[in-house]
Amino acid sequence: RAIPDRRAADAVNHFDYRGGALCCEDVKLADIADAVGTPAYVYSTATLERHYEVFRAAFAPRDVLVAFAVKANANIAVLATLARKGAGADTVSQGEIERALRAGVPADKIIFSGVGKTEAELAFAVHAGVHQINVESIAELETLARIAWALKKKPAIAIRVNPDVGAGGHEKISTGKGDAKFGVSPEQALALYARAADDKHLDAKGLAVHIGSQIRDLTPLESAFRVMRTLAEQLRAEGIAIERLDLGGGLGVPYFNEPDPPAPADYAAMVERVFTDLDIKLSFEPGRMIAANAGVLIARVVRLQDRPRPIVVLDAAMNDLIRPAIYDAYHGIKPAREPSGPESAYDVVGPICETGDTFTRNRMLPRLEEGDLVAFMTAGAYGAVMASTYNARPLVPEVLVRGERFEVVRRRWEVADQLALEKLPPWLEGV
Ligand code: LLP
Repeated sequence: RAIPDRRAADAVNHFDYRGGALCCEDVKLADIADAVGTPAYVYSTATLERHYEVFRAAFAPRDVLVAFAVKANANIAVLATLARKGAGADTVSQGEIERALRAGVPADKIIFSGVGKTEAELAFAVHAGVHQINVESIAELETLARIAWALKKKPAIAIRVNPDVGAGGHEKISTGKGDAKFGVSPEQALALYARAADDKHLDAKGLAVHIGSQIRDLTPLESAFRVMRTLAEQLRAEGIAIERLDLGGGLGVPYFNEPDPPAPADYAAMVERVFTDLDIKLSFEPGRMIAANAGVLIARVVRLQDRPRPIVVLDAAMNDLIRPAIYDAYHGIKPAREPSGPESAYDVVGPICETGDTFTRNRMLPRLEEGDLVAFMTAGAYGAVMASTYNARPLVPEVLVRGERFEVVRRRWEVADQLALEKLPPWLEGV
């Protein structure tokens, strides 16, 4: 049976048809395509700002730190848009910290997480004076303590707890089960935290948790948060101070005709239920729910293969948007020209030489022809950041729209950009 294109991602964003043309805010996607070519990512400032604001405001009057997960969209113009609104940044590499700083996120709003931070990265974060380093293991705590002593600094840290609660839209993005590589058990977390609190070169601030991504049900989140509350209370009962809990990211977005994920207000109400009357500062690390609906990938139809079920070959491929290939993810597909006629079933693929380069099969779509422009919806998170140059396809440009204006915020790579990084060894020169 053909899959209907439900366009659920229309929920709340600033991509809609006006006068027959699909627009991002007040700009026609077709005009952007004419100016910068295809494929290209296009982001909406108004959507980014709205999602950040809705999330933050849902917790009012509680003052929470909303640290945008840079892994979802690392473009410095996107980060700067959010930073201007007051967002912090959740980072997992030195590169992400540098991007956040470059975008104007103050160091004291940057969280540094990840299971494999190198010594150089830890030292960089300590020097930068980030808000918090989320420590994921005993070994990491020892390394960080050594670095802090050597540098005579006192970094603020949180211990990442693995609450043994799984959740998330796909097994590859679930992080909270006991056997996952993330964090330490609740018992170990207490011991590690006490160890850190005793160290005069570590500033033990809190505990952190993140159980998965694209979560559409509050129940596992609530279970994990209850574990966090209990741990904070246990520490305090032992006379150990704890000021902060970092509750991670993970709230899902609507990609398809599944039930809508919980609204930020429901999420915040659950958080209040769990943490009411506990005097503690909360932070969050949302990525997808802020950026996903704020971006699309535009592409053109290169060719139509005439089959019983026609195959649409686009100029975008799995290297540009890999989510369908690795998670079987669904992205709505909309033609830039508002469709009117009947829909029929298509397969939509990219030009890369493997069958995995298939965006969707048997999807009901309006009639498509060579040269038509289409948009992959809900592609603002985990889109451009996961791109590669497979098949020697240069990275595509990113465009930021604000009202009637748009700007190329990352230019298209040229093949020359890639070649500039490579060289022939002496024994092959002149051959
Ligand atoms: N905090 C931590 C510690 C995380 O590991 C993640 C995501 C987040 C926050 C942000 O989660 P979000 O709010 O975006 O759900 N590439 C996958 C998603 C991987 C998510 C990994 N961690 C995808 O395209 O679906």
